[in-house]
Amino acid sequence: MAAKCARTPGESCVPRESCTPQEGACILRGVNHAPGESCASRGVVCVIGTLPGAARERRAATAGPVVARRGGGTAHDLTGAEPIGSDAMAAPIPKAELHLHIEGTLEPELAFALAEGNGLTLPFASQDDLRAAYSFQDLQSFLDLYYALMTVLRTEDDFADLADAYLTRAREQGVRHAEIFFDPQAHTARGVPVGTVIRGLARALDAAPEKHGITTRLIMCFLRDHSAGSALRTFEEARPHLERITAIGLDSAEVGNPPAKFREVFELAREAGLKCVAHAGEEGPPANVWEALDVLGVDRVDHGVRSMEDPKLVARLAADQVPLTVCPLSNLRLRVVDRLADHPLPAMLDAGLMVTVNSDDPSYFGGYAEDNFTAVREALGLDEETLRALARNSFQASFLDETTRETYLKEVDAHVF
Ligand code: HPA
Ligand code: ZN
Repeated sequence: MAAKCARTPGESCVPRESCTPQEGACILRGVNHAPGESCASRGVVCVIGTLPGAARERRAATAGPVVARRGGGTAHDLTGAEPIGSDAMAAPIPKAELHLHIEGTLEPELAFALAEGNGLTLPFASQDDLRAAYSFQDLQSFLDLYYALMTVLRTEDDFADLADAYLTRAREQGVRHAEIFFDPQAHTARGVPVGTVIRGLARALDAAPEKHGITTRLIMCFLRDHSAGSALRTFEEARPHLERITAIGLDSAEVGNPPAKFREVFELAREAGLKCVAHAGEEGPPANVWEALDVLGVDRVDHGVRSMEDPKLVARLAADQVPLTVCPLSNLRLRVVDRLADHPLPAMLDAGLMVTVNSDDPSYFGGYAEDNFTAVREALGLDEETLRALARNSFQASFLDETTRETYLKEVDAHVF
């Protein structure tokens, strides 16, 4: 039942070789079934491909601008749970966002608009239906939805729109500098070339200083539940674009996929002059943080909250002032902690660790950067000088040049709460 592809060959056409997509083919798993039917029986949410139409116009007509959320409103909680952080807003403190998956900023509004634009039907009747699915038991249950929903991202424009929507929100939240993760394998596996992803993101990021007043860096992450060979092939595919990339990272399912599996690609990246970061100690044990430090030689650890279980590791992290990009609302939503009041952030600060506060996947976890600051202030009773120290840490731990770092640090010091 091959359908004629309405697009220019090569233009965001998911099937690799040909432009004849199967009607109703499941984009996620390559399984055929009827349009509108979901693969829930396979334990994943999937997106059903329908005939690509001339739908970018429809998308432009229906999407509208992504609405910035701040200004006396409540925090952006998509889970249906109690809103988090609800004060009338003073100006948010200037800060750097260092742990942000761009695919995790995909809001339901944009997901539906992109699906429409790309001729896809999401297996959710409405945005509210989709939001109702944002209830996670653990990291994997989140990742299943995260990978499924990002299949609406196909074209350079899609990636540019995604990043621009994020930057609009970020500025509202006091973000002055953002170091942004992306997951190339989650897109190349669907036939979207890595160049399409990087060019689209870079277009929005290049415009960001003037348009949003935000400086940025890009961090290319490898999926640790894929093979080391896949990471190496992806790195080589991205080589022509490395001037756009500041660092490599490691993310996805941590348990059972220790950092050492990726030693080789981290060596290649360092030889190419890139910085290195890795998720470790989120759901996985402190041993993963040791490996990230000693085998991968990372410059920062993403999450790292389980380091607190190992006093020797805490001493090492404190002595070397290794930055830990902590994500409180993520830890709550993925049940790393039962309640925010139980979060180890205060203990980490007391231990002298270089901690920053970040948002991870804000569309899914109910809050962007300032929402996370507000949430920890309220739940953990952090005072203003602690919040200022966290904001200073965010710039200290960034990959900024020294001059720009100093400029931002002065803004933090001048901030009035
Ligand atoms: N952990 C690991 N991988 C991820 C996450 C996360 O919180 N978000 C997106 N990829
Ligand atoms: Zn993350």
